[in-house]
Amino acid sequence: MPGKADLELDALREEAATCTRCDLYANATQTVFGEGPAAAEVMLVGEQPGDKEDLAGEPFVGPAGRLLDEALAAAGIDRSRVYVTNAVKHFKWEPRGKRRIHKTPNRSEVLACAYWFDRELAVVQPRIVVALGGTAAKSLLGPKFKVTESRGQFVDWDRDPMILATVHPSSILRAPDDVSRQHAKEAFVADLTVVSTALAA
Ligand code: URA
Repeated sequence: MPGKADLELDALREEAATCTRCDLYANATQTVFGEGPAAAEVMLVGEQPGDKEDLAGEPFVGPAGRLLDEALAAAGIDRSRVYVTNAVKHFKWEPRGKRRIHKTPNRSEVLACAYWFDRELAVVQPRIVVALGGTAAKSLLGPKFKVTESRGQFVDWDRDPMILATVHPSSILRAPDDVSRQHAKEAFVADLTVVSTALAA
């Protein structure tokens, strides 16, 4: 049976469905709100929904999501017990032929959407937040934060949960060859293992 916090998340999801806090809603199919149990100990924060997520209305269900699922499993983290969301909840894209190509959200779009992240965080109250990639990390830790310098370690911020940043799974999919992709995936799993080790402590 859903608890009070799950019902609060449902109410937030419903409210966010008509969000017009920035202009991205105009070209997106729908708001892609966070998903997962309100009692989750871990909250993963990506950048924004991709093409598949925009159509499905769920975060991380496309190729990056498959890689994320594999990496979580390899790190001993059960995705069904994790709350997964994005810094920006509408798909930002530009047309290229028949395809919709991802466009990185700008700072004002990220700041507008932080309203929803703040509310998700207040309801879920995870033990650990994981920022996936630069957009999420800068949105949570400030524009000067560099994932390349501080990945895989807990860093200071002004809120209660512990926070760690790592790369975005899409960056692993973009690796130029199989060997570098494999290395990047191993490093990603190692970062997530820092999370599972902290959870077990
Ligand atoms: N990339 C993201 O950052 N989030 C998703 O939900 C899917 C792809």
